[in-house]
Amino acid sequence: MISTCTGSDDSLFREALDFAGRKVRALVRRDPDFYPMYTDRGRWRHDLPAWTHWCDGFLPGIMWILASRGDNSWREPAERYSRRLEPRQFDREVHDLGFLFLSTYGRWRAMTGDPALEAVLTQAGRTLALRFREKGAYLRSFVSEDSLFIDIMMNVGIIFRAAQETGDEALLDIAMRHSLTTRRVLVRGDGSTAHEGLFDLETGEFLRQTTQQGSRGDSCWTRGLAWALYGFGAAYGHARDARFLRTAEACADFYVANCPADGVPPWDFDAPAESRGLVDTSAAAIAASGLLQLADIGGDAMKAKGYADNARRILGTLCERYLAAGDPEWEGILKGGVYHLHKGLGVSESVMWGEYFFVEALDRALGDG
Ligand code: GLY
Repeated sequence: MISTCTGSDDSLFREALDFAGRKVRALVRRDPDFYPMYTDRGRWRHDLPAWTHWCDGFLPGIMWILASRGDNSWREPAERYSRRLEPRQFDREVHDLGFLFLSTYGRWRAMTGDPALEAVLTQAGRTLALRFREKGAYLRSFVSEDSLFIDIMMNVGIIFRAAQETGDEALLDIAMRHSLTTRRVLVRGDGSTAHEGLFDLETGEFLRQTTQQGSRGDSCWTRGLAWALYGFGAAYGHARDARFLRTAEACADFYVANCPADGVPPWDFDAPAESRGLVDTSAAAIAASGLLQLADIGGDAMKAKGYADNARRILGTLCERYLAAGDPEWEGILKGGVYHLHKGLGVSESVMWGEYFFVEALDRALGDG
């Protein structure tokens, strides 16, 4: 890891991590064994819908990061919250098994080296691979057979991992072909991304770009772009195929070139005028962590410094302007996330994936966990 933090960044980031730990501790005490997804006016507990159940790994994932930084008090809740997810290694309802298991069992395995944990990760990879459609060569999204989401690039890593662990060439083939299809149909020539692609189920022909959570089919939903930046970087880490590195870099360059100077993007780069002022801090947190990953794996020192500098700039803004530190009633860590604007879910709220990738990015930036 390239550590280019200045001393002042360092203390800002450490304070933010301490704050995050206090917030998660308060949540665990207030609502034990509860896995919230987004806040409602700053409160985690509410009856608003989930749309899909993809987030339960992020809260224990934060605990694992804090445990790996040396605070042993997080070990017991991290294990307990992770263990309760174990049955979901067989979950065929979601395309999010990477989110669920890399943040939990993946971190647990990395921290303890316990090989028994790998079986759960491998099974989760095998289950996700069952979503693969030969016609079209993609892992179908949770919404329908003909649908591919950019988000799945964050999950395909668990199939790469299962392939590496087992030597199963069929799994590797699925992970590679899904990633190449996503690159071909959802990443545009300028490095921007579409959220969703639709295929003809009979022929496998790619039909068109569309969206669920973005502004339009031809817009660039910023969280989707951040998922691509991070996901293709992770795919490069697994496969060492230079096409994935180039795609991750193109997405990173598009993000940096189109963001305001503070590094925190609008919820969609092509948002209509009435919502252009609405930011998504979760996209910024994912991008910051993905940029630090790129700085680590890319190999080009000049580019690496640029990615790391941009990541620190984003993190600095998040720490200074979006931390809920000045609002004791607010239960989340980071304000200004957006889940699903069209459904009115989690708009300008704390969102659990934003909390997780913010903490991960801080941990990566400090690099001394
Ligand atoms: N569906 C994943 C996301 O909201 O980014």
